[in-house]
Amino acid sequence: MSESLFRKKNISSILSESGDGPKNADFGLKRVLSARDLTFFGIAAILGAGSFSSLGYAVFNGGPGVILLFVITGIACGFTALCYSEFASRIPIAGSAYTYAYASFGELMAWIIGWALIMEYSIGNIYVAYSWSDYFTSLMAKLGMKIPEYFSTSYMEAKDAVMAGSNNAEAIAAWNTAPLVGSLRIIVDIPALLINFLITWLVYRGIKESRNFSNLMVILKLGIVLLIIIVGGYLIFANDLTANWLPENNEGIKSFMPNGFGGVMLAVSSVFFAYIGFDAVSVLAEESKNPQKDLPKGMILSLVICTTIYILLSLVLTGVANYRSFEGVGDPLAFIFEKQNLDIAWMQIIVAVTAVVAMTSVLLVFQMGQPRVWLSMSRDGLLPSAFQKLHPKFKTPSFATIVTGLVVGLPIIFTDKTFVLDFTSIATLFAFVLVCGGVLLIPRKEKIPGRFHLPYINGQIIYPVIIIAAIIIAQYLSPVYFKDMFNYDFSGNADYTSGSQSFMDLATPKISLVIFWLITILLCIIGFVKKFSLIPLMGVTTCLYLLTGMTKENWAWFIGWLVIGIIFYLSYGYKKSKLAPQNSEETIK
Ligand code: ALA
Repeated sequence: MSESLFRKKNISSILSESGDGPKNADFGLKRVLSARDLTFFGIAAILGAGSFSSLGYAVFNGGPGVILLFVITGIACGFTALCYSEFASRIPIAGSAYTYAYASFGELMAWIIGWALIMEYSIGNIYVAYSWSDYFTSLMAKLGMKIPEYFSTSYMEAKDAVMAGSNNAEAIAAWNTAPLVGSLRIIVDIPALLINFLITWLVYRGIKESRNFSNLMVILKLGIVLLIIIVGGYLIFANDLTANWLPENNEGIKSFMPNGFGGVMLAVSSVFFAYIGFDAVSVLAEESKNPQKDLPKGMILSLVICTTIYILLSLVLTGVANYRSFEGVGDPLAFIFEKQNLDIAWMQIIVAVTAVVAMTSVLLVFQMGQPRVWLSMSRDGLLPSAFQKLHPKFKTPSFATIVTGLVVGLPIIFTDKTFVLDFTSIATLFAFVLVCGGVLLIPRKEKIPGRFHLPYINGQIIYPVIIIAAIIIAQYLSPVYFKDMFNYDFSGNADYTSGSQSFMDLATPKISLVIFWLITILLCIIGFVKKFSLIPLMGVTTCLYLLTGMTKENWAWFIGWLVIGIIFYLSYGYKKSKLAPQNSEETIK
């Protein structure tokens, strides 16, 4: 059995079974997307809830130094994008990371990735739908149309706020004013449900309509983000506010990182969430005109553009106002134009509209990604055949699209923001590690003109040198770094928020860091023997490092989710797989 759990598909058979393959010539998805469309899709997916709703939190903790975190996370995502690009160029079909894992690690790992991607695409969209609802509700209020709190808050958020005695006035008002049916309070986030319904409908109708809609939204949000940067940037210099870039900390020392690197690192998961989305471009492989060339272009360009925007936005935010004033600010980009800051009322409205638009496009791209991953899994026999059914007229995976709508919509009723954010980040990072690791396992290939080709840099020596340098730097910055790693209780519950100690001191005592360093040492050895390529090695390492920021609870939920997935696979996919001996006729046919 263990051998068949790792049965692999070879790349040529994957390609022959795709929408363009001989078996599916009449049933393929429509190839309508250009490199520009794919770049737009990338930006549509990346620029959204992460930047609009959690940038304030990041700035408050890290001060201007949060720019550094955007650079670090951008680099980690850059390595990953290059690995995605290599796979997308070799296997340009809709399944994305799932398909890549099938070719490199085998069936079980492919299933696990497909299962984890549900969290990135569907569960991630729940977070975005909640954030969309927050902005939409406040925009309506600014326009004089108030939506009652109990129809714009999730039940769990309201309940948790009351139980925890929180200061979240909206959530508490939702609980206290909600209509009762018997003893049950009717609290439901109607705008979040509504936007999910609309997006599902749009995706169901077809890629062309979705593309036009998405391109329009991207142009609008890019234009307005640029306006914020230009107006904010100009006023920083005109009003002589540049001293905000070197604020004083509690000890009276002026610093770019007033709370040290520890403060910066507190924002790691929300910053990472802001980057998720470039990978979603790869699921459009079967709808793009020239996937081998255009998918890599789309992913890398969108990532570079968004990284630049994030850095400029962080500079504007931290220049306009002192980083401390962002405490509890959920709409930081509108906040800088409020009375106490730049005092421009029309910009506040424009920013609120943009936030709604930005998040709509994120929802759209993710809602398109999920059915396409399921379509690939269904083609391989791991999911029922209904998931590969294409709509006769719209040529979209109709059944899978409706199921996605339900998977996003139903939890909106009974879950909350924080939970889904953590869930999404851990699963996505996990998938990123496996994609980068997968590139190490596939055989190297000659460059084919006109296609993306991941440059091979021999990591045999360079990688261990980088790791040794990292160890020396960590030890230099915090002499107790490695000592504390082994002294701790390994509970994973270290308090990173007290602010009294540096992040290095607090972060070390985690079993995940011990595992991280052990894996990097192992990679040094295997990489030396096998002459591994440097770029995927760095991708694995940087994403693994970001994973060390996840809490014990995150891991518990994630592992629980994987166990359910494995049970599902063993009871269905393992037997129905096209690669199972009893079904192998189908594969050969
Ligand atoms: N990066 C996407 C966002 O920030 C998921 O909304």
